[in-house]
Formats: sequence, structure tokens, C-alpha cells
Amino acid sequence: RRHLLDLESLSPAELTCVLDAADRFKAATDDCRRKISVLTGRTLANLFFENSTRTRNSFSLAARRLGADTVEFSSSGSSTAKGETVIDTAKNIEAMNVDAVVIRHRTPGSPYLLAKNLDCAIINAGDGPHEHPTQGLLDILTIRQRRGSLQGLTVALVGDIAHSRTARSNIWGLQKLGAHVILCGPPTLVSRRWEEFGVEVAYRLDDIVERCDVLNLLRIQFERQYTRPFPSVREYALLYAMNSERMRRAKSDILIMAPGPINRGVEITPDVADGPQSVILEQVTNGIAVRMAVLWLTMNTAQTNS
Ligand code: CP
Repeated sequence: RRHLLDLESLSPAELTCVLDAADRFKAATDDCRRKISVLTGRTLANLFFENSTRTRNSFSLAARRLGADTVEFSSSGSSTAKGETVIDTAKNIEAMNVDAVVIRHRTPGSPYLLAKNLDCAIINAGDGPHEHPTQGLLDILTIRQRRGSLQGLTVALVGDIAHSRTARSNIWGLQKLGAHVILCGPPTLVSRRWEEFGVEVAYRLDDIVERCDVLNLLRIQFERQYTRPFPSVREYALLYAMNSERMRRAKSDILIMAPGPINRGVEITPDVADGPQSVILEQVTNGIAVRMAVLWLTMNTAQTNS
């Protein structure tokens, strides 16, 4: 494939191909510390129209670990303030001879628009609430490394499903690889329509915590809560925060995950976030490995339309 726009359209074999490549890059670079210069002479552009700490920096590091150059674009301080459109901005960056563009934008579908209008590879780093495919891949890689396989595992995504691109990428990727997915959160933030896609919906964390192999705790996206009523932070923490009391009822080998940034005391208490079952920082390291794999697969292949 030339682009990575979502996980919904990837086959199980394609997902496995990326995960296997990520494992290989991680092993070959001593946990993503060293260089393996397979993309020397190539250039990656990071186009971020929304804030980022993990995704942006790990794409940059991944590109540099592979020997590629990077162009860093942030909408703040750019000529978008003078009225330049996203497509014009991206085309101008592409004209600097870049081989791939990573885009994060608040508008769902913006990476697809670039894929139609630019010649280089396009990688979705989060398009509004739609998808965040590399986050889904790094979450799945972390589970696979710890458990060996996704087949038969019960993975709960807890929190603000309605606004979560991470949830959507996880749902598609996890299901394709054989996991049972539970969406858990307040009815205002979790739609029963997901049941049509074979996903279980639960409105009380206490009802499901004992049978989960993995809990992925998603942030309440206050910046995207436009009109919908939602619980207060206090109510949310009471019903959905993973805390020491719920940990006592969970499986002893449960994996505690979060895509970050985390709101300590809201979706997760500090003792759980920093506790022995937490793999939150492993996820971050795996983010470099996954992005190395995605850059290599998209920038190193012959250009075909897909
Ligand atoms: N998980 C994630 O996408 O983090 P950033 O917003 O910091 O990139």
C-alpha cells in the first residue's frame, strides 16, 4: 500500500505484516535506540494542525532512526493564518521533494483528501474523531508482545468512545485479529450502534472488570464535547476510573493501557498508571517501532494507487 489512512480497510494479513515489521525494527535497533539506515535520502514531512506530544515526536524519531530527513510543520506560526488551505499547504510542502506526509487534522477525512491531491505517501496521524491508525497499531503490538496473540482476548476500551479516534482504530484492528472488544462508558459517550459491528457495549466498568484481559483507558476529550451532555468529572471518576479497588477484582495479569495523555484521577488513578500492570510507557516505545514499520512500508515501496 502507498498510504496508511485507517485500520478499517486493512486485512488481517496487512495488519500482521506491519506488526511483524515493527517487531523486527524494534529488535534490530535495540528497542528503537539505534539507527538502521534503510530510508537514507528520503524525506518525511510532519503536518500537525492539532497538538501532539507522542505521535509527532515518535514519527520524527522513527524517520531519523531509519536515516530519513524530516520537515516539521505546525499550523501555529504558519501561513495557514494568512488563509492558505490544507491542500495548498500540503502541496507546497510536497514540492520540497518529500516522500511522505504525516497529517493530523481535526477534520475527519482530511488524510483521504491529501491522498487524492498529492503524489506522495499519506499517513493519518489522527483525523478528528475518525481514526488514529498508528495508535491502534502500537496498542495492538503492545498486547501481542505481552500475550503472544490477540486471538480470544477480551479487550475493553473505556471512556469517551464517541470522540475517540483511538477507539475506532482499536475496534477495527482488534476485531480483525480475533479479540473480543467491549466498549465501556457513559451512555452519552458510548453508542449501542457499535453492537451491529459485533462489539459488546457496557455502561458499568464494575460489570466487566473481572473478565477483561486488557483495559485501554481513554481520555475524556473535553475539547470535542460540543453539545452533548456528559457526566461531571467527579461522576466519571467514580464510575469509570481504574483504581486500586477495581484492580483487586481484575485478573492478576491484566494489562493496563492508555494512549495518553492521561488525566490522573479521572480515567486512571496514579497508583494504577504507575503500577506493575501498567504498560503505558511500553506503548510509547512501541510507537516508534510501529512508525518505523509504517514509514518503511509506505516510503520504500513502489508507488501504486491504493
Ligand atoms: N496518543 C496520542 O496521540 O498522543 P499525542 O496527542 O500526544 O500525539
